[in-house]
Amino acid sequence: MHNGEAIATFYQCGEAYRLDPLTLENLGVAAWAPLDGVSAHPKVDEETGELLFFNYSKYAPYMHYGVVDATGKRTTYQAIDLPGPRLPHDMAFTQNYSILNDLPVFWDAALLERDIHAVRLHKGVPSRFGILPRHGGPVQWFEAAPTYVLHWLNAYEYGDEVVLDGYFQENPTPRPLEAAPDGHGHLMAYLDEHSFRPKLHRWRFNLKTGETTEGHLDDRILEFGMFNQHYAGKPYRYAYSTTAKPGWFLFNGFVKHDLETGESWSIQLPEGRYASEAPFAPRVGATSEDDGYLVSFIIDENTGTSECVLVDAKRFEVVCRIALPHKLSSGTHSVWAGREMLRG
Ligand SMILES: [Fe+2]
Repeated sequence: MHNGEAIATFYQCGEAYRLDPLTLENLGVAAWAPLDGVSAHPKVDEETGELLFFNYSKYAPYMHYGVVDATGKRTTYQAIDLPGPRLPHDMAFTQNYSILNDLPVFWDAALLERDIHAVRLHKGVPSRFGILPRHGGPVQWFEAAPTYVLHWLNAYEYGDEVVLDGYFQENPTPRPLEAAPDGHGHLMAYLDEHSFRPKLHRWRFNLKTGETTEGHLDDRILEFGMFNQHYAGKPYRYAYSTTAKPGWFLFNGFVKHDLETGESWSIQLPEGRYASEAPFAPRVGATSEDDGYLVSFIIDENTGTSECVLVDAKRFEVVCRIALPHKLSSGTHSVWAGREMLRG
């Protein structure tokens, strides 16, 4: 949600479409979207109303970074020099910095010359994180352990450090999934979290020394993280992740982390009930960070029905189930937009 409208963008970069948030009427391509396209996961800072985005391509300089102000005017657009074509999926931001990534999982260069797009983990190549001032400027690069990351949680500044949380894949180029239907093993391995093994992970980048420290925060397979967006870019305490059914691209539960104490709580859905990503909706009049609800759409394969469920984020239990008139398809990404974010 940006400037009162819903914005739809595409992983491999394309035009950013504006949609009426109430009717989903197509309002056309956003005027601020550059010809090079807009990737998935542009970020909106609720505090400033700014939208931060990146794009990437097979052609030098391979990546750009941009900022659109709260009124829809593009105010920053900067080339980010990379050594070659990369496959970033998401970005992160703090109050003063944006964080882009150059991870060692990308196309085989020799095959790409023959127009074959084969993803490889390039052994011996570190992960690299580019941190730059939010409104543009020089990029400071940090090296870290090789991995691939689909989604980041939050990031914030702490003293000289930028702290970034996300899901570190232990096995980013998994072998074909043997249990998958014939011919689908390769595809399914890249959808099965228990194949590529994403773990909740924290990177700390010291802007003074240039050093990175990092480590897992949990050993479970988790992804599709959510948190209270009022804390986006700022120190935060509570993170919510989804768990996935082994061998499938289906979410079968939620985990809440207290990142201060390390405690966690989980909800496991009954067999056959699967969730969408569950954004955090602050309670009206909320008095603390976890005072609110996770909102998720459930598909129930036992009954052929769907529901919207609310999880009380403090008690961490389902407190409301709303029957929907139709069964939905299994969903992944979602966003919560409070009334104040809707145009008009
Ligand atoms: Fe995504």
